[in-house]
Amino acid sequence: MIVLGIETSCDETAASVVNDKGHILSNIVLSQLKTHRVYGGVVPEIAAREHLEHIDKVIAAAIEDANITFSDLDGVAATCGPGLIGGVMIGMMSAKAIAGIHNIPFLGINHLEGHVLTARLVDKIKFPFLVLLVSGGHTQLLIAESLGQYRRIGTTLDDAAGECFDKSAKLMGLPYPGGPNIEKTALECLNKDAAIERFPLPSPMKDKKNCDFSFSGLKTAVRLHVDNLPAGDLEYSDIIQLSCALEVKIAEILANKSGRAMDQFIESYGPFKTSPAFVVCGGVSANQTIRQQLQNLALEHDMTFHAPPLSLSGDNGAMIAWAGLEHLKNGQHDPLDFQARPRWPLDPEGSPRHGAGIKA
Ligand code: KG4
Ligand code: ZN
Repeated sequence: MIVLGIETSCDETAASVVNDKGHILSNIVLSQLKTHRVYGGVVPEIAAREHLEHIDKVIAAAIEDANITFSDLDGVAATCGPGLIGGVMIGMMSAKAIAGIHNIPFLGINHLEGHVLTARLVDKIKFPFLVLLVSGGHTQLLIAESLGQYRRIGTTLDDAAGECFDKSAKLMGLPYPGGPNIEKTALECLNKDAAIERFPLPSPMKDKKNCDFSFSGLKTAVRLHVDNLPAGDLEYSDIIQLSCALEVKIAEILANKSGRAMDQFIESYGPFKTSPAFVVCGGVSANQTIRQQLQNLALEHDMTFHAPPLSLSGDNGAMIAWAGLEHLKNGQHDPLDFQARPRWPLDPEGSPRHGAGIKA
């Protein structure tokens, strides 16, 4: 079984061909980074226009790289939400057109489910497993019970972790996207303890006995540190230390709530015959400091640790193709009048959180 996956929900125009053995036959990701960088963030209308301009070429390249033709496909999957609706529509309509012309099933995929199921594409892990999904728009702890069945046990009440990286980077004058640039800058810090002592940052929600997060106060604390520096420009040496302190704090917050979630998961779903899996996914999962801390934590809880290879941690078409394959193998596909969904929670039954809005 071979499926084409299309991803256009943010600033990557991506297409990939994957087979049911989990072999990625092609994986084309065209980043719009340079286009958006001058604006310090993604501009939805410009993103949509860029997707429209490049989508045909990206799909053609994915088919060619996989050494197949459209008639070899058993299905075509596209991100149908959540995300920037203009971009989502372009990927979704392209997939529907291919499905219609070649008379193959169409699958409308939840972008977040794509990130979550990447661990099954790469490491073949079994349900149920615990997931920390950390991206630019979401920070959630979820239990993946079975295909299509996800129980949210924690979420951010305000900004997502990636958003905190991005907004803090902007405050420090680092270019978009903030996460990778903060990680790169923090690597230059030779004395972590001194950085943490010089720039203390709060741990919002730390003592709340739940798995929810809050990151907006952290961004404000970064701004106050920047504002309170002696008059004159922020020196590069300050940016190095502040980047380091922020990265360490975000890793600590994510680990603290993940540890709580691990206890809860093991208590509710255990005992297990073999160690259960802990998965971290989404763009922020590329961060090595965060990975390392979460890996140690999983070990302490006798859980196996799974993070996608860097090529699959950001947005890509392979995760969408794989999610499509999983649903197709399960006998599911979607009608051609399937509607795009700018908001599409993985756990629609999850109780709303005060202030969480779209991130719930
Ligand atoms: O999953 P993703 O590619 O797109 C969304 O669905 O949001 O995640 C993008 C987010 C951005 O906020 C970016 O700054 C963050 O992931 N990110 C990182 C790193 N690489 C990407 N954050 C921290 N460290 C990184 N190395
Ligand atoms: Zn994403």
